[in-house]
Amino acid sequence: MTTINVGLLGLGTVGSGVAKIIIEEANLLTQKLGFSLKLAKVCARNLSASRAYNPPADLLTTDPMDIVGNPDIPIVVELMGGLEPARTLVLKALSSGQHVVTANKALLATHGQEIFQKALETSRELKFEAAVAGAIPIIRVLKEGLTANRIQSVFGILNGTTNHILTRMTQDGLTFQAALAEAQEFGYAEADPTNDVEGFDAAHKLTLLTALAYGSLPKVADFHVEGITKLEPEDFAAAAEFGYVIKLLAISTVDQDGRLEIRLHPTMLPKGSLMAEVNGVMNAVMVRGEASGDIFLSGAGAGMMPTASAVMGDIVETARDLRSGSAPQVPALGWRNAQTLAVKSQDDVRLAYFLRFTVIDKPGVLAAISGILGSHNISIARVVQKDHDPKRGGVVVVILTHEAREKDLLTALAEAAKLDSLTAPTRLIRVEKLV
Ligand code: HSE
Repeated sequence: MTTINVGLLGLGTVGSGVAKIIIEEANLLTQKLGFSLKLAKVCARNLSASRAYNPPADLLTTDPMDIVGNPDIPIVVELMGGLEPARTLVLKALSSGQHVVTANKALLATHGQEIFQKALETSRELKFEAAVAGAIPIIRVLKEGLTANRIQSVFGILNGTTNHILTRMTQDGLTFQAALAEAQEFGYAEADPTNDVEGFDAAHKLTLLTALAYGSLPKVADFHVEGITKLEPEDFAAAAEFGYVIKLLAISTVDQDGRLEIRLHPTMLPKGSLMAEVNGVMNAVMVRGEASGDIFLSGAGAGMMPTASAVMGDIVETARDLRSGSAPQVPALGWRNAQTLAVKSQDDVRLAYFLRFTVIDKPGVLAAISGILGSHNISIARVVQKDHDPKRGGVVVVILTHEAREKDLLTALAEAAKLDSLTAPTRLIRVEKLV
């Protein structure tokens, strides 16, 4: 029976999970494939590290070049993470005629142009299902199932750590710091949680979904990325009162002028909507296709076995294509002729906004604020005044606006900040009604 060799670069959490499935589920895989997959070599930095799963010692090496460029290993799985040496090794593997599976979102978001181009030039597979939303097979859905659709928009909860933190803040009133400490204790959040809580991890994933949806790979530096570190329990309480929950939502769409509207920020979503109900470490993606309508997928966004499941899907698909002599069937991004769409400035985005002012409780204050908003074309939908907040030395006034241009809103807030009656900085959270 044919055997297809697989080489693994990286034996961290996900790498161990992949090794475990290839070895322990060999029979199941053979039953499904009609041929066998063999773990031929595993490259690990530290051979004696303690791991959730230890592959046989004779498979281990510390030299990636035992795998990259090895003519006996047609499929290279990159699970090292980081930019280098991952970039160099992936490019080398493709140039050597090997097919590549990776889970490295930072690598593809940063060096995607070069890597996707190399895969096209060399006619090799470059699969990355595990790079976005863990176990959810969203890459395959966009590349294949929905391929005949004009994609209208993509929405996602793409980071499990932050979704867990926001869920605890919503349901149990925790502060950000307390919820983060708990996530670290549970092992969800890294010791340095910056990449997750400042939104970069989710932003990397959003660039990849955007490239698959519209054929244009944006740079994270070109769009608005805002994390969850400034959110306070008062925001969640006020959101609940207005019938909303707060999620770190990734959004991309193409506007009427063909510009890419892409952004990632804390977002108020109507309670009861599908996205609003995605809690804990779960991820979710909603794709709106012109022909398909709305497709909603949810599942585990991180973790050893859910992520390994996605990596295995790519390995199996590549092995099947190899076996039939037809790899690669679909270009890495699902587009043979990619395009470059201009990214719409965040200033031009039109949304409804939730504003939390802290003010001295005296006559004329509300009139001053609403006057400033009105003079910048911002119409108020709802206002609620809360009790005196001793922490901030004022009363809290929460305003929900109708849709407005972001530049006008920010200009109005800058003007309002000069009012003597404001006792603390005003907080702004964007509102999305669509999902
Ligand atoms: N740290 C990520 C998360 C998983 O919490 O979702 C890997 O991207």
